[in-house]
Amino acid sequence: MTRRLDATESGIATAASILRAGGLVAFGTETVYGLGADASQPQAVARIFEAKNRPRFNPLISHFAHAQAAFQQIVPNALAHRLAQAFWPGPLTLILPRAPGCCISDLAADGLSTLAVRVPANAVARALLEQVDRPIAAPSANRSGRISPVDATHVLEELDGRIDAVLDSGPCTVGLESTVVDLSDPQRPCLLRPGGITLEELQAICPHISLPQTTSDAAPHSPGRLISHYAPHLPVRLDALQAQPDEALLAFGAPRPTNAPLVWNLSPTGSLEEAAARLFTGLRTLDHKGQAMGLTRIAVQPIPHHGLGRAIQDRLNRAAAPRPQDGTGDTAP
Ligand code: TXA
Ligand code: MG
Repeated sequence: MTRRLDATESGIATAASILRAGGLVAFGTETVYGLGADASQPQAVARIFEAKNRPRFNPLISHFAHAQAAFQQIVPNALAHRLAQAFWPGPLTLILPRAPGCCISDLAADGLSTLAVRVPANAVARALLEQVDRPIAAPSANRSGRISPVDATHVLEELDGRIDAVLDSGPCTVGLESTVVDLSDPQRPCLLRPGGITLEELQAICPHISLPQTTSDAAPHSPGRLISHYAPHLPVRLDALQAQPDEALLAFGAPRPTNAPLVWNLSPTGSLEEAAARLFTGLRTLDHKGQAMGLTRIAVQPIPHHGLGRAIQDRLNRAAAPRPQDGTGDTAP
């Protein structure tokens, strides 16, 4: 059984003691729920990979209560300081060389010479990280390859019985994973994953940031960027101007007449922030209800290609990508 802990002082204290003892606790951040373990205990980190069924070659992000604690584990450069100053606590992950004496287990870092670090903004997550007072490795708290959880019920749908507890801090406000930026070569900062901090926001601090030309370009630098991911059970059809009567519709913008018997509108007012926050719940809901109704696909209306729209489109592209079981796609993180 997985315990559901309330985000009270005693719930946070219980979650912290489970983590310090080497257990697994899922906890809410502003992006998605993470599946946490003490990053310095190899056996605890190994349990994350088992619970998620995650390939071992996919390294994990280490989470900290403060930038100062994160910077003890890596070798920061001037750009890292500027980005941390601008966006931490918040939905930004930085990749930097590991510091000599870094306490993160090789398994969490996949034996790489670099480490992914992040300071989340969610107040409950920060209180938990402060109490544990150790780096917490946390991938998204879903089974590998599936839709990321943005509330505690989603976590239990994915991992009930496989983890010790979920600390319920309510729905995630951003709703998309953090933006991942590789700063290991300070001359060539590179955006590995679009996320809660937009490219426009990054460019204000770092005008020369480069983008991988294709998603598969990013994969060797960021092993988790394999193509098929965020996958609902139903196939996904992108850029649909109109839905068929056997399709569920993921809509965006002012509602229009449709043939679809099931609709989830990401944001009737066309807000990309609202759309990001409603994306994963929308995919989950259309998938569950659509299957129960005998529908064959999820059709997705076009999303604007700026701001958070890039991260939303990235997740939708992966949801629509060929699946490993099709024999055409990659294994997914
Ligand atoms: O918002 C988030 O980032 C959430 C919350 C829980 O913090 N976490 C998350 O973790 O999305 P995960 O494991 O699902 O994604 C981490 C990404 C993967 O694409 C992984 O390959 C990449 O970060 N990554 C981790 N360490 C890396 C490294 N040293 N070099 C390059 N990429 C790395
Ligand atoms: Mg993930």
